[in-house]
Amino acid sequence: MSLQGKRVVVGLGGGIAAFKAVELVRELSRRGAEVRVVMTEAATHFVGPITFAGLTGKPAVTDLWAKEYAGEVHVELGEWADAIVIAPATMNLISRAANGQANDAVLATLACARGVVFFAPSMHHRMWSHGATQANIRTLTDREAVVLGPVTGPLANGEVGEGRMMEPADIAEEIESHLTHSDDLSGSRLLVTAGPTHEDLDPVRFLGNRSSGRMGYAIASRALRRGAEVTLVSGPVHLPVPSGAEVIRVRSAVEMHAAVMSRFDQFDVLIMAAAVADYRPAQRESHKIKKGGDLRLELVRNPDILASVGAKRVQRPSVLVGFALETENLEQSARDKLERKAADLIVANEASAGLGGDTNRATLVEASATTSLPEMGKPALADQILDRVRTLLKNPSARPRRETGHKAPN
Ligand code: CTP
Repeated sequence: MSLQGKRVVVGLGGGIAAFKAVELVRELSRRGAEVRVVMTEAATHFVGPITFAGLTGKPAVTDLWAKEYAGEVHVELGEWADAIVIAPATMNLISRAANGQANDAVLATLACARGVVFFAPSMHHRMWSHGATQANIRTLTDREAVVLGPVTGPLANGEVGEGRMMEPADIAEEIESHLTHSDDLSGSRLLVTAGPTHEDLDPVRFLGNRSSGRMGYAIASRALRRGAEVTLVSGPVHLPVPSGAEVIRVRSAVEMHAAVMSRFDQFDVLIMAAAVADYRPAQRESHKIKKGGDLRLELVRNPDILASVGAKRVQRPSVLVGFALETENLEQSARDKLERKAADLIVANEASAGLGGDTNRATLVEASATTSLPEMGKPALADQILDRVRTLLKNPSARPRRETGHKAPN
């Protein structure tokens, strides 16, 4: 009964997976949540509002104009709910939500949401991979909505693909994980780095990488929701700043190094989610380089920020987390990195799933434990990482004892 005392609105779009929302409502209720249901008109063609009235003991809201809801039912429900989950979230509903429409009961309730908003997409795989859907999903996640799935499996027309709604029990599990984490990091100060670094060649060109910054921003955003104080050292990205975070913007690895080294000892935790360039051009030209014959670039090593903090820290940060992107020997390479950089936790990603996407498949490597996680959205992975961080913070004996004076590589 771990959702005891929590209030959840389930909002249905008109898709074949609407029948699974019945099980979702039951599952949430089984876990102790109080549930209310809102439905689009299209959803009522798939499953009847009476079913939900029977399950929840309250009428399902289908129509903002119905007399029994005279007043502002959408405002009332938006304020009431600790979480709103749209399941199934169809292509159409996702598009309308991303564009801020509020012309039916589901969208108007969403527009008034006070709590966390979840979307469980369900559609044909080509609708899911459609550029418009992907852009809309980015818009929603940028506004801190949590997208659960879809998963790969059999679709309504018999094809197999990515577009199947996540199973109700898994959706309920994710909601529970979000709602029960509130404030478990309060009192902790986190320094998080995110995004790529840009290493300038001349005034218009740079060397960079495809990091979107989403992983670091998701960690910052989840940590804030869990009550931590967060400072984000961000490379050049186009993401909205999570509300409540202090942001220090940097461009190059050298700037990020300076920003982290001047403040790391004021934080309990440092999470190096940034994809820091290992090299920079030996020289930055002050004028645009003109084309001529072949050109050879000389690159010099950048300072390794994680290893420098690992070598210099005395008491703080007491938890040091790094990332690793590997193409082979995932766990062993991560374990080497853990040792070499004197970190407490390395989040190892398979290179195929990692940089720039919306999901990650990660393995969490610590001195005495290895946890392989399934593929999941970056906010969900952020929570898994923060769960480990919290354990390490609370239980210093889980951290390996270190000799002082670890040798910094450069
Ligand atoms: N990192 C850092 N400073 C750098 C490079 C990387 O702090 N100059 C951090 C990243 O933020 C990340 C981890 O180190 O947390 C990733 O290290 P990676 O670049 O994979 O490590 P290397 O030791 O350079 O690994 P490889 O030998 O595979 O290049």
